[in-house]
Amino acid sequence: MKYGYFDDNALEYVITTPKTPLPWINYLGNKEFFSLISNTCGGYTFYKDAKLLRLTRYRYNNVPYDNNGKYFFIKDGDTVWNPGWQPVKTTLDSYECRHGLGYSTWVSTKNDIEAKVLTFVPMDDNCEVSKVTLTNKKSSDANITLFSYVEWCLWNADDDMKNFQRNLSTGEVEVTDGGSVIYHKTEYRERRNHYAIYGVNTKVDGFDTSRDDFLGAYNGPDSPDAVAAGKCTNSMASGWSPIAAHQINVSLKPGESKTFVFTLGYIENPEDDKWEAPSVVNKKPAVAMLAKYNNEAAVDAALAELKKYWSELLSIYHVSSGNEKVDRMVNIWNQYQCMVTFNMSRSASYYESGIGRGMGFRDSCQDLLGFVHLIPDRARQRIIDIASTQFQDGSAYHQYQPLTKKGNSDIGSGFNDDPLWLIAGTSAYIRETGDLSILDEMVPFDNDMSVAKTLMGHLKCSFDFTATHKGPHGLPLIGRADWNDCLNLNCFSEHPGESFQTFGPSEGPVAESVFIAGMFVKYGEEYAELAELKGDTAEAERARAEIKKVYDAATTAGWDGEWFVRAYDANSNKVGSKECEEGQIYIEPQGFCVLAGIGVKEGLAEKALKSVEERLDTKYGIMILQPAYTKYHLELGEVSSYPPGYKENAGIFCHNNPWVSIAETVLGHGNRAFDIYKKTCPAYVEEISDIHCTEPYVYSQMVAGRDAKFHGQGKNSWLTGTAAWTFVNISQYILGVYPTHKGLSINPCVPEDFGDFTLTRKFRGATYNISVKQNGAQKGISKLTVNGKEVEGNIIPYEEGVKEYTVEAILG
Ligand code: BGC
Ligand code: NOJ
Repeated sequence: MKYGYFDDNALEYVITTPKTPLPWINYLGNKEFFSLISNTCGGYTFYKDAKLLRLTRYRYNNVPYDNNGKYFFIKDGDTVWNPGWQPVKTTLDSYECRHGLGYSTWVSTKNDIEAKVLTFVPMDDNCEVSKVTLTNKKSSDANITLFSYVEWCLWNADDDMKNFQRNLSTGEVEVTDGGSVIYHKTEYRERRNHYAIYGVNTKVDGFDTSRDDFLGAYNGPDSPDAVAAGKCTNSMASGWSPIAAHQINVSLKPGESKTFVFTLGYIENPEDDKWEAPSVVNKKPAVAMLAKYNNEAAVDAALAELKKYWSELLSIYHVSSGNEKVDRMVNIWNQYQCMVTFNMSRSASYYESGIGRGMGFRDSCQDLLGFVHLIPDRARQRIIDIASTQFQDGSAYHQYQPLTKKGNSDIGSGFNDDPLWLIAGTSAYIRETGDLSILDEMVPFDNDMSVAKTLMGHLKCSFDFTATHKGPHGLPLIGRADWNDCLNLNCFSEHPGESFQTFGPSEGPVAESVFIAGMFVKYGEEYAELAELKGDTAEAERARAEIKKVYDAATTAGWDGEWFVRAYDANSNKVGSKECEEGQIYIEPQGFCVLAGIGVKEGLAEKALKSVEERLDTKYGIMILQPAYTKYHLELGEVSSYPPGYKENAGIFCHNNPWVSIAETVLGHGNRAFDIYKKTCPAYVEEISDIHCTEPYVYSQMVAGRDAKFHGQGKNSWLTGTAAWTFVNISQYILGVYPTHKGLSINPCVPEDFGDFTLTRKFRGATYNISVKQNGAQKGISKLTVNGKEVEGNIIPYEEGVKEYTVEAILG
């Protein structure tokens, strides 16, 4: 069952009922000012950092789940309704929500009044603009009242929901223009130099800034007293809960429309220019911002600019395959999600509260893989930011705060896969751009410039960390965990509430990870290539000798007979082996070792992927392990804490499905690679939205596995490395356009009935128009022609000054 449909021409998903199984959200904002917005207008706004600079308040864990947002209320006689249905939930005569790239719209009607709402964050301003158009479709005059409503957050979202003894006394506001512009200035009198505004481009008939006065002390936003009365109270908040609400009385002749523009903005003032009079904030920048968006034409122009921005970004990689689901994911939604994960890392979604996790070291490095082609300059900066939180021995803080860009100790360090992801991200950036200069940038350790090294020096630290932290089998030590945050082999937690990620000794000298071995072979080689490009062949040779040792360990101690072992625990017992009672096979080492090329020539890779298909596959995707843990295993940690079928305990962790799909392409299995791609692909899953529940235009982190009661149900949508890895899989391995240091490589691996396809790829300043003739083959180019000339091998030679490449590849 579906709750909407894709409108590919408009680059939108159209939701046709507000009653989706879960909130179906969108992200507004591309750079520093962001909003989350659901299909019922729930959500919140922040500047740069969802924890430290939250503009509007949201209550996670609310009932109903998605409650509090930036709402508009329409009072028409005795009927009160919202264009997004919530919070009043009056049955609408019609409802449509469209989520587009960085904007959302609603068109709803009730009793022949139509409300159109458009909301977006303009490209270059720190504000969210909402255009509200009311139309009278009756044959008589309409006299209605429009109310707006936002609830301010007192900036630090963590403190905001805990520290009431202080917070209920700090709220401060100012109001100008008869109530049209409301200023939220809590803590501005002391250490903040920023405030927020909510303004509308018309004279208002009333306003409120105190929540209790607008709603009534015993009401929620589903029944505001002021709306019921048809009149705001012109309240001035002092402490308690400041809000911003406008009241606009609207008279409409039959057929007449009126449009209002609301601007929710973030303003920063210079320290020495904070005030225009004692206790009166300097409003100049706010007035300028409001003036910029005070008319419909300006708003439309700003939206057009946003759409142009996206169409340019999406022209960098564009496929026409004749398969509409593939085309819509590759050309629109998968790339869009890559941008969102790049911007948010794992900080703010409807499942990440914005106060828990900031930017993840490993997460952000992987997000780069799917983003780097879009805006390489931003990727470059991100690499430097991430590397700046690394420690001198190559290990790293597991996460950092986006506002301060400093590592935070909330989850500590000691996740031994982290260092190698830095090589992955940097290599992807250099293969995309050819910009080797990044390797010479001086980058601090733990943000301390006095101990800076070049980025290449950082990569060496990353490489050496793994090379020098090995266990009894010559495999890399796992530390607190590797990619699987829940495989905590040095934790041994016996008491509820202890963090699996920070409890126990991180420096376990015994527990080893075969997954990190796979990473070391893959990214160690990428490191060696970078060393070669820098002319350091001795270092490349040294690296390859180290890689060989780990390769050999992976194919011996890391091999279980039919698949790769997952790990060795702190007692040197195998994890993910036929010897285990539960958790005999894990997906991660199968996918990653094979994609790294481990065991291909020895025939182990074939066996490992066969075992995955036989033991882990389901119709909704590949499970992370089997059999699920039914008991808590002290020696394994959080992985065994989840009920069977959920999360890391035998859920379908979407993130590593593309690893297996890529691994299948390494072996030339186009049919199977694509089959895996389809199982978790949102455009394919759309048909079962009632089972899947999460948004059908983006990936979720997890789909419940076979052991779970709700097999097939998605959870934790949006902020997952699945976005980047799937884009890498489909764009670079299945469709096969892979950036190498020497130029683009063309090596598709598709199912035999895929058919011919064409592709445009902008790369290092040139445009490549690629057409692939399939001839029923799954993999293997028999002829490659570039600008009319036949070329040996798979790589399109880069020719200085050539801006257009016409490429014809024939498979089979
Ligand atoms: C989750 C993991 C996540 C980790 C972050 C765990 O509870 O299961 O998916 O990576 O928390 O700390
Ligand atoms: C989600 C985390 O963000 C990611 O870092 C981790 O690799 C996966 N969960 C698997 O545990």
